[in-house]
Amino acid sequence: MVRNNYQDYDFLIIGSGIAGLSLALELSELGSVAILTKKGDSDSNTNYAQGGIATVTAARDSFESHINDTLRVGCGLSKPEVVEAIVCSGPENIKWLTKLGVNFSAQNSKRRSPGEDYDLGKEGGHTHSRVLHVADYTGREIEHRLLTSIRARDNVTIFENHIAIDLLLGIHKVPPATKGVDIRVCYGVYALDVPNQIVKVFRSHRTIIASGGAGRIYYHTTNPDIATGDGIAMAYRAGAVIRNMEFVQFHPTSLYTPEGRTFLISETVRGEGGKLMTIDGRHFMADYHKDKELAPRDVVARAIDAEIKKTGDKFVYLDVRHLGSQFLQSRFPNIYQNCLRFGVDITSDPIPVVPAAHYFCGGIAVDLDGRTNIEHLFACGETACTGMHGANRLASNSLLEALAMGRFVAEYIHATFAKQKIRKYPRIRNWIDETVFDHHEWGMISHDEDTIRRLMSDYVGIVRSDKRLNRALERMYIHARDIEEFYQQNPVRAAVIELRNISAVAMLVIRSALMRLESRGLHYTIDYPDTDDVHYNRDTDIRRTDFTKMW
Ligand code: FAD
Ligand code: SIN
Repeated sequence: MVRNNYQDYDFLIIGSGIAGLSLALELSELGSVAILTKKGDSDSNTNYAQGGIATVTAARDSFESHINDTLRVGCGLSKPEVVEAIVCSGPENIKWLTKLGVNFSAQNSKRRSPGEDYDLGKEGGHTHSRVLHVADYTGREIEHRLLTSIRARDNVTIFENHIAIDLLLGIHKVPPATKGVDIRVCYGVYALDVPNQIVKVFRSHRTIIASGGAGRIYYHTTNPDIATGDGIAMAYRAGAVIRNMEFVQFHPTSLYTPEGRTFLISETVRGEGGKLMTIDGRHFMADYHKDKELAPRDVVARAIDAEIKKTGDKFVYLDVRHLGSQFLQSRFPNIYQNCLRFGVDITSDPIPVVPAAHYFCGGIAVDLDGRTNIEHLFACGETACTGMHGANRLASNSLLEALAMGRFVAEYIHATFAKQKIRKYPRIRNWIDETVFDHHEWGMISHDEDTIRRLMSDYVGIVRSDKRLNRALERMYIHARDIEEFYQQNPVRAAVIELRNISAVAMLVIRSALMRLESRGLHYTIDYPDTDDVHYNRDTDIRRTDFTKMW
């Protein structure tokens, strides 16, 4: 039996990555903030970011150029007004991070003094070098500085090992004269305090989902374990619009290991001159794109996928030996050390690499204030779809977007906090688990995670077809139904919550992919290899409207 435990806050944030933490810092000036995070406070995709944060700082660069690069790579689906607002906020956001203590690398040295030029990395799709970084552990440094500042604020409480389960919703009838649909309002979340196995009710009139991406729905992924798409799944169940889920970005170069454990080899490694080649030493990128190794990510990932299928090898090589041992160890200390752990010395061995699921361009549909179609519910960071990335994300634009959006949401809340009409909290249903957890059944259901991740990699990967997608949908439907049934009939557990969300997000990706009968950006299907601007130059939206059914 699990009893309710009520907690009320002015602002409730789900997630402690760059989006959630920057938002929390800004909101802490206005009221009490609760941050729920399902593992330790720094367990996030943010913590793993290597390449850096794309921003216009060089004299030769311009906002116009960064905007145009983002729009071109977005293949017609990026929203120009969103791209402009986020790109132009870059320098101010960098200043903000610098004030918190993030010390971006300077040219020819690891630590930058005031006034010195930044060392700017170059990544695929960018026409200028514009990626600010802290060696190759940019995300770790940003996460660390944000957390240090947050810990100094009295009115922010971080609830570690608290996993949000579902949103608390009020359904308000609208008068028939307005012919509207009922208004759905979010009042917070149910969350499981994992170590104590208690379901708590966190209530707030402003709930912000900042729970990151969903790379873990695929077998090969650069993402850590937390990336199970929980926010997207919760929002879908609650009736939020979920947008463009077919656009899954595969990073071309993650370390290949026979055991399947992986580690990202940053695109900036290619930016510094790293070359791709087959196991027998053939350089192949010139056959696929004029920009060779620095072609946009989807092109490089598809090229590697094609070479692996052609040769029957399990990986290709990324060769950096010619860059010199001293340079490699100072520019890429993190990659150097991690590869050594897997027995690869990048100064003397070529690095075996494969593409891996990396980033979700789609997510919960929001406007530039982070508002969803559910009242009092916001989203920002990778879990949201703002229209910045369109059909493909320009490298190193996601840290920028997550930071900018965290601060835009805060700006909107600051501007409206005093004026907004607040409804009374509705009566919240008690969470009662009266059954006993069925370990025997779970033993079987838990295997579904591996099955789903392999299914997604095999059937819904870099190259798709109607046949593969339909097959995946049929199989996924059965898994999703069985998992939902298990979830409904058993006491709540973190692993079940995550599996339920993995299956929900996998369903959303497959359904979105089946709705786009063309190839564009990250969505490539052999049945419709061309882009069809007449019918598909638009977003793919999915929204649950019949609440008697999950799908
Ligand atoms: P995250 O940083 O993923 O944080 C999500 C948070 O939500 C976590 O704290 C998590 O525990 C929590 N959470 C999730 N579900 C729940 C739940 N149910 N209840 C409670 N808490 C929950 N982008 C760039 O721009 N530049 C780069 O160089 C770069 N390199 C990358 C390298 C790697 C290996 C990876 C994986 C990604 C990289 N990216 C990069 C992408 C970028 O890091 C992410 O898009 C960005 O950090 C997302 O930030 P976020 O705050 O939205 O989410
Ligand atoms: C990388 O360093 O290659 C990752 C950059 C990104 O995902 O934007």
